[in-house]
Amino acid sequence: RVRFATEADARQAVADAAGYAARWAEVSPADRAAMLLRAADAMEADMQRLMGLLVREAGKTYGNAVAEVREAVDFLRYYAAQVASTFDNATYRPLGVVTCISPWNFPMAIFTGQIAAALAAGNVVIAKPAEQTTLIAAEGVKLLWDAGIPREALQLMPGRGREVGPWLTDDERIQGVMFTGSTEVARELQRILAKRLGPAGCPVPLVAETGGQNAMIVDSSALAEQVVRDVLISAFDSAGQRCSALRVLCVQEDVAGQITTMLKGAMAELRMGPPSCLSNDVGPVIDARARDGINRHIETMAAKGRKVHQLWREGDAATRAAVQRGTYVPPTLIEIETLSELKREVFGPVLHLLRYRREDLDQLLAQVKATGYGLTMGLHTRIDETIRQVSSQAQVGNLYVNRNMVGAVVGVQPFGGEGLSGTGPKAGGPLYLYRLLSGRPDAALEKPFGVHASESLAPPTAPGATRTLAEMEAWCAGQPGVALLPRIPFFGVSSHTLAGPTGERNVYQVHPRQAVLCIAPDTSGLLAQLAAVLALGARVVWDGALPAAAELYRRLPSSVQGAITLAPQWQREEFDAALHQGDTASLLALQQALAAREGAIIPLVSVPKNAPVPLERLVVERSISIDTTAAGGNASLMTLS
Ligand code: NAI
Ligand code: MG
Repeated sequence: RVRFATEADARQAVADAAGYAARWAEVSPADRAAMLLRAADAMEADMQRLMGLLVREAGKTYGNAVAEVREAVDFLRYYAAQVASTFDNATYRPLGVVTCISPWNFPMAIFTGQIAAALAAGNVVIAKPAEQTTLIAAEGVKLLWDAGIPREALQLMPGRGREVGPWLTDDERIQGVMFTGSTEVARELQRILAKRLGPAGCPVPLVAETGGQNAMIVDSSALAEQVVRDVLISAFDSAGQRCSALRVLCVQEDVAGQITTMLKGAMAELRMGPPSCLSNDVGPVIDARARDGINRHIETMAAKGRKVHQLWREGDAATRAAVQRGTYVPPTLIEIETLSELKREVFGPVLHLLRYRREDLDQLLAQVKATGYGLTMGLHTRIDETIRQVSSQAQVGNLYVNRNMVGAVVGVQPFGGEGLSGTGPKAGGPLYLYRLLSGRPDAALEKPFGVHASESLAPPTAPGATRTLAEMEAWCAGQPGVALLPRIPFFGVSSHTLAGPTGERNVYQVHPRQAVLCIAPDTSGLLAQLAAVLALGARVVWDGALPAAAELYRRLPSSVQGAITLAPQWQREEFDAALHQGDTASLLALQQALAAREGAIIPLVSVPKNAPVPLERLVVERSISIDTTAAGGNASLMTLS
């Protein structure tokens, strides 16, 4: 039985958390890590009971339930190891009270991951689980308490998001919000938080992980059997209720007929029914509202004349009766003509099929990008050149080559997207904990946690960017009082191999954001921002209405001018990050203007005068996972290049 929190409960929780924050921040990183590791061991030991709950409350299959508990355990150990090995309380300062709002689709893994990160970094946590999966959340919290986390450092506030959410976010004492769920709610949270400032007069951190319009691209060189195997898992496992799940299968027209036939045959073998029965592959969707929404989408597409196939294997009488009673949607394949037919994410076992012509691959990639989402992408090909072409153009957080595109592993495939798909940093990646701090040593990021070797697969930094930087350096040398930041090799475009299983290559890349809006009241502020952004390799957008910006622009060498957009109205420009220096009023005004914009959540970084720019806020991280055994031999033999 579940009782939802009342407003009085929530207010009390915030007060208790705020009162305890300073004490928890004093606990040593080693002790905090030890508690998280104990919780990890306890969770692993309790696997069977937790699985039962995951199957009953969240409709998970047993296989998914095992993966879910493992992922929660991985998060606990990963963040514990990071703080134990690199943090100290004198220089790594937490935010304070952090609210964690999690979804029902990973009620143990995402829920625990958010909490573990916030606690590890030294924050106290108020956790608001999805209303559909409160019992699992309660078990998770009990395990953490039993492992030594004080009750004041971690509180559970169950309830409906629309109701409890504002109590736990629209409050001066909340210093950070971590959210996974729909894009709409993420934007709502951004607007709530834009009304005020948080730790040290900076914007309140919002880490939002939202959905995707995830595509898999299959060319004619791909091995059809592997494609079908990986499509089935990517689209229909967990009844398609993963943010990473495959939504649009893009097949080169030459092989589309064969692959579609094989895929339909494989779909017809999927068993749908209660996940408590081991032989069932596809369980229910989370609730009646979700089912009805998915069915409405299917009906709309059918009414438009799109071919709709619903294929699964009917079970026995008992299974059929259970399916009748429950909230099931059969595995569905819909043939579409253009990607723009899809207006939003359909969060269920619905796969769209799009045919493309080989020579149109670039246009297809552009269409995927035009959706505005950037979470996962799959690619099946045996041609190295195509892997390079797609990986250099794809603007997605996680790219999977010749394998399925779900089930990211903590520390191996750091997970999270860009654009409409989320703010970053990547969960289970080396930069995540820094977002949960109000202060860190300047040199903290020079040796990123868990990143071992660098490799040369890096797409080269645009040659223009390096030249611009050199010219900027030369120009700065002649200007009194202007110093460039030392370059940090980890930033800019860089590529690293992460440890992972044999047979798989996992690459972690850091790319600069594309364009950064830079607002500062005077020449020295603008120059400091310009230097940081150019050192990273991004473009700069300046507010042309600002006299200091217009005047400085005229003085700069032309190549540096070329990296700057002097915008008569910055509001109309495209940029994917913003840097601010100046007084509180101007920061609040900028923050609200950004929150009112359509589209993705734009990170706003406020840097005091003469302080270094935190470069980790101006990058996007990408993970690429390649199954190196899939091609059935040495794929390069198939191409002349
Ligand atoms: P949701 O975004 O409403 O719920 C996620 C969490 O946010 C839950 O804990 C919910 O209680 C909370 N929440 C809801 N409204 C809130 C508010 N106003 N303030 C604060 N917290 C609030 O997602 P929902 O309704 O469960 O599913 C709707 C759609 O969202 C799905 O169809 C899917 O497209 C997407 N979604 C994406 C997920 C992902 O993993 N990226 C997970 C769940 C949903
Ligand atoms: Mg909702």
